[in-house]
Amino acid sequence: MAPVLSTIFLFFYVLSAVEGAEQELPSRIILGSSLFPTSHPPSWFSPSGRFAFGFYQQGTGFAVGIWLVGKHNTTVVWTANRNDPPVSANSTIVLTEDGKLLYRIGQGGEKLIANNTEAASFASLHDSGNLVLYNKNSEVIWESFKYPTDTILGGQTLFSGGQLISSSDTGHSTGRFHLKMQDDGNLVLYPLNTGDTPGDAYWDSQTFGDGSKFHLYLNSSGHLLIINGTISKIIKTLYYNSLSAYNDNSTIYHATLDTDGVLRLYSHRYNETGELKAWPALKNPCEVKSFCGFNSYCTLNDGQPVCLCLPGSAPIDPNQGTLGCSRNYSESGCKGGKENALHFNITTMENIEWGDRHYVQQSMSIDECSKSCLEDCNCGAALFSKNMCMKQGLPLRYVVRKIQSGDQDASTTALLKVGIGGNRTDLIPSKPTIIVFASEKELLPAILMTSGLVLFSCISLIIFCLFIYKIRSIRYKRLLENGEDGLTEELKLRLFSYNELKVATNGFKEELGKGSFGAVYKGTLYRGKKLVAVKRLEKLLEEGEREFQAEMRAIGRTHHKNLVRLLGYCAVDSKRLLVYEYMGNGSLANLLFKSSGRPDWNERIRIAIDVAKGILYLHEECETPIIHCDIKPQNILMDDFWTAKIADFGLAKLLMPDQTRTFTILRGTRGYVAPEWHKNTPISVKADVYSYGIVLLEIVCCRRNMELNTSKPEEIILSTWVHQCFVAGELQKLVIGEEADKKSLEKMVMVALWCIQDEPALRPSMKSVVMMLEGITDISIPPCPTAESM
Ligand SMILES: *[C@@H]1O[C@H](CO)[C@@H](O)[C@H](O)[C@H]1NC(C)=O
Ligand SMILES: *[C@@H]1O[C@H](CO)[C@@H](O)[C@H](O)[C@H]1NC(C)=O
Ligand SMILES: *[C@@H]1O[C@H](CO)[C@@H](O)[C@H](O)[C@H]1NC(C)=O
Ligand SMILES: *[C@@H]1O[C@H](CO)[C@@H](O)[C@H](O)[C@H]1NC(C)=O
Ligand SMILES: *[C@@H]1O[C@H](CO)[C@@H](O)[C@H](O)[C@H]1NC(C)=O
Ligand SMILES: *[C@@H]1O[C@H](CO)[C@@H](O)[C@H](O)[C@H]1NC(C)=O
Ligand SMILES: *[C@@H]1O[C@H](CO)[C@@H](O)[C@H](O)[C@H]1NC(C)=O
Ligand SMILES: *[C@@H]1O[C@H](CO)[C@@H](O)[C@H](O)[C@H]1NC(C)=O
Ligand SMILES: *[C@@H]1O[C@H](CO)[C@@H](O)[C@H](O)[C@H]1NC(C)=O
Ligand SMILES: *[C@@H]1O[C@H](CO)[C@@H](O)[C@H](O)[C@H]1NC(C)=O
Repeated sequence: MAPVLSTIFLFFYVLSAVEGAEQELPSRIILGSSLFPTSHPPSWFSPSGRFAFGFYQQGTGFAVGIWLVGKHNTTVVWTANRNDPPVSANSTIVLTEDGKLLYRIGQGGEKLIANNTEAASFASLHDSGNLVLYNKNSEVIWESFKYPTDTILGGQTLFSGGQLISSSDTGHSTGRFHLKMQDDGNLVLYPLNTGDTPGDAYWDSQTFGDGSKFHLYLNSSGHLLIINGTISKIIKTLYYNSLSAYNDNSTIYHATLDTDGVLRLYSHRYNETGELKAWPALKNPCEVKSFCGFNSYCTLNDGQPVCLCLPGSAPIDPNQGTLGCSRNYSESGCKGGKENALHFNITTMENIEWGDRHYVQQSMSIDECSKSCLEDCNCGAALFSKNMCMKQGLPLRYVVRKIQSGDQDASTTALLKVGIGGNRTDLIPSKPTIIVFASEKELLPAILMTSGLVLFSCISLIIFCLFIYKIRSIRYKRLLENGEDGLTEELKLRLFSYNELKVATNGFKEELGKGSFGAVYKGTLYRGKKLVAVKRLEKLLEEGEREFQAEMRAIGRTHHKNLVRLLGYCAVDSKRLLVYEYMGNGSLANLLFKSSGRPDWNERIRIAIDVAKGILYLHEECETPIIHCDIKPQNILMDDFWTAKIADFGLAKLLMPDQTRTFTILRGTRGYVAPEWHKNTPISVKADVYSYGIVLLEIVCCRRNMELNTSKPEEIILSTWVHQCFVAGELQKLVIGEEADKKSLEKMVMVALWCIQDEPALRPSMKSVVMMLEGITDISIPPCPTAESM
């Protein structure tokens, strides 16, 4: 719907202006003229009186724009600074003496309406609805037709490269869809913030120009055309106006990209009420992709599109149906396998499809498909068609309900995982999340609870491990004899005395580096036979003795080839020291960012996968899930065989609570922290996925995420630049002068772009990341990482 408003005062001035208009053609707006929202004059009119420019009411305030004056209501066709908040009633629009068109907001400053560089001598609002500024030679220096918002009027051109963006439901600010006149000659509708790939498009004009300049043009008699450069060269007629009765000056046409994502052509006659919808680009608004948000689909109710949630999900906001739906059951207790049938079930739906690509596709029967999805924690839904089972994780995007056709071959069945109702204590997630505390009051009970939980799980684990150990000790004995690391070593962290470590490090003489928790020193044990790194912790929780012991044991239990091994620790009085294996080749940061001898492409892919596997182990494979909270190249170390190993894991919980809020900033790792850190919301494993995404981009490009010393401003932030290159199909720019093969480069970049999505739910799990990097699963096209909302 084109937004319409009616205000009494406007109506009054419109009538008087229409009467007075005939005498004064053309109306020149001279320097020094001004307009006010509630006092005379509120607007400037075009000679015919059909268009007005000035303040119009928006919510409780006013916006600045151009509108079509109807007999009963008005239609806004252009808005200046559409995303700025409405202004108060004491604002003024001025064409200043020095030739600028602007508005002053109360006493709160100025905003330009036109960004002309040359000073204007006068302005004029044309009968077409075009607001034009002229210089002293009466040449056009700025016109509103060059900067359309959601509408083009009769006589207006949408030039190649230009776009219309729909308005939001509540006003004229940027909405959810855009119409692009692409350089390739095609006119295309896409949801906003999606990357504008062919898979995102929901309508196009099917015109392709091979590099010649195609424009969209609406002529004043209502013909909507795609033209090649000039009006005489018509490539395609989108709408041919056969209503000859309307072919006169009193009918005004406009094409608007409405808030529902449909481009429509409207006609207005001055003496008739309302407007006439002459033509829509799509007849069925349900065909607009992402009209309904994630996990929901569109259906027509009385001709109006309505969004419904898929089974197993509930509306994110019941008052805003188009916002989408989220899963209404918890899957954090999911262990996989047959046991899943106790907590989940599969519901089927016919003729539902969605847009994203599945992560696995296998030929099987529908029952096997249903079972396979049920038992797979990564599967949120599966599409079954022609004996093919295509599994897919949530959320589902671009869900459509197809019109039923008799064609049996084309039929699809959607299998959707749903939770089995009721509150189940066994579905409550184990406690991997680190909560960012809102206030100190909440802290104490939380600490008691977590330490209780940690202690409990430790005791049960130790009992369990001892049991296993007893059963298997014979097998491990042989391993031990061969000098391999056995289970005993995993279980037994060595307790060091302070003096022992003082001697080992030669009085803390050789500092290897300073981390976020304190300094790290080089040392030797067993009379110089074994090199170690000793980390002296500072800034710890005072009374966290028990918690410290528990954490040490949790860290000690981890054993993975991509994690730095903790060998032992020292906890005497207030001193806390950790003893790690020594990593001979420094950090990944050294390796990537130093100017010479960076690793080659295949080496970097290997490192990326190594790091991902290390994080996957922390998140999903070790006994107590661990969120690292500080994944960055400085925390990834290289051993003697250039295997990448993650350091500093499991320590985040030991920090002082007030530092949990700020430590990410104090540590200067701003570029790596996920956006939710700044939002005071609980942090989940997805925060690590975000940091990993940034590190992955750094591995791909061998440069830091933030690089101030670059000649081009668009390259300063790596993640933004990479997305631009990705959309433009110019990834090769990222690895200039290297032999990176195109396919693996694209793969790495796509995985990284998924990881750095602002919305944590959109980021893949580390398991999916590893599977994507190893080529086990396909990767769908990532959306723009910083989409405001979907
Ligand atoms: C303009 O209006 C705002 C609020 O409506 C008020 O705070 C401000 O003082 C007003 N300024 C003038 C100059 O009247
Ligand atoms: C005016 O603003 C538009 C975008 O709103 C921009 O494309 C154009 O370059 C600007 N012109 C000048 C002269 O700054
Ligand atoms: C568009 O016009 C240009 C030159 O005016 C011409 O070279 C080109 O072939 C035209 N393209 C089409 C598709 O007609
Ligand atoms: C608009 O375009 C149609 C189709 O090309 C043409 O017949 C008509 O004369 C045009 N109208 C004007 C006012 O140029
Ligand atoms: C349309 O307007 C033009 C000038 O504004 C005038 O010359 C012409 O007669 C008008 N035509 C009709 C049908 O009103
Ligand atoms: C509106 O004006 C046109 C001529 O300008 C006339 O043909 C038509 O009948 C009028 N419609 C109404 C509802 O008055
Ligand atoms: C214009 O106003 C009339 C009466 O107030 C209303 O019936 C009509 O729907 C409005 N037109 C539009 C396009 O909203
Ligand atoms: C989730 O939603 C479905 C309907 O989509 C409903 O049947 C089910 O009871 C809901 N489950 C929970 C736990 O709310
Ligand atoms: C799962 O759903 C099927 C039908 O879709 C139903 O027959 C079955 O009873 C359900 N199982 C449970 C445990 O609710
Ligand atoms: C489930 O939990 C919610 C909130 O914790 C509670 O309000 C509700 O009564 C519980 N329902 C059942 C069936 O236990």
